[in-house]
Amino acid sequence: MRPGSWVGRVHGRYGLANVAVCAYLIARSMKKYRDHYFEKAKRENYPARSVYKLKEIDKALKILRPGAKILDLGASPGSWSLFAAERIGPGGLVVAVDLNPPGAEFPRNVTFVQDDAFAPGPELARLLAAVSPFDLVISDMAPKTTGIKLTDQTRSLELCECAFELSKRHLRQGGHLLVKIFQGPDFKAFMDSLKPFFTTIKGFKPESSRAESKEMFLAALGAKFHPDKGEGASEGAAEKNASGGQRD
Ligand SMILES: C[S@@+](CC[C@H](N)C(=O)[O-])C[C@H]1O[C@@H](n2cnc3c(N)ncnc32)[C@H](O)[C@@H]1O
Repeated sequence: MRPGSWVGRVHGRYGLANVAVCAYLIARSMKKYRDHYFEKAKRENYPARSVYKLKEIDKALKILRPGAKILDLGASPGSWSLFAAERIGPGGLVVAVDLNPPGAEFPRNVTFVQDDAFAPGPELARLLAAVSPFDLVISDMAPKTTGIKLTDQTRSLELCECAFELSKRHLRQGGHLLVKIFQGPDFKAFMDSLKPFFTTIKGFKPESSRAESKEMFLAALGAKFHPDKGEGASEGAAEKNASGGQRD
């Protein structure tokens, strides 16, 4: 242990036994917390505890409406799609996309396609064209984490930008976008890039998301663009362009 390090200082001041007890208690409470949502998800037949994040967000924003058409990006193992399918009912449709196969059996109002959201293959492209415009695009996409904070944040941001691009093409006017993002240096710039295209942007850190996790959710509500007019042809953006504003 280096004498000048914080571990060294804490050790010197409180003694190794106390530090070890604290570390143990923190680890135990984190495990208890993880187990709580894990067990709850198992009991309620969801393949992942991430469902509670969407439940919290929907409780606050009421974005999952009966009959809605939803594009769920990063849908595997399938908790979000299952919950969305319950909320929208038999008259709605979830198009669920993930690089990985699903870990759940879906009801009839969910169509799952194994594909890359960055480069939709023919099956997904056909489906998107047939179902568009969607009422809601949700993205819980996450990169394979490397443990290198900046790399993980950059990759998470790329996934958010991908979800945003797909929204510009496939979201109806007045529709909503919900994305998970690892907060990093470009977080604010991304949030700002959404502003001209939506009426309201809200940030969420659900209680069911680990406090130590840098993830949070951005809900962009009330799309101002018209997918049928091509790439992000928003009235707001068009006005901004005309006045020399920046367009992404
Ligand atoms: C946290 S998990 C999603 C959990 C899911 N929302 C649920 O409730 O079961 C993140 C997912 O994003 C997917 N993903 C990452 N990059 C992707 C991409 N380019 N296209 C599609 N899915 C992607 C991963 O394969 C992973 O399954």
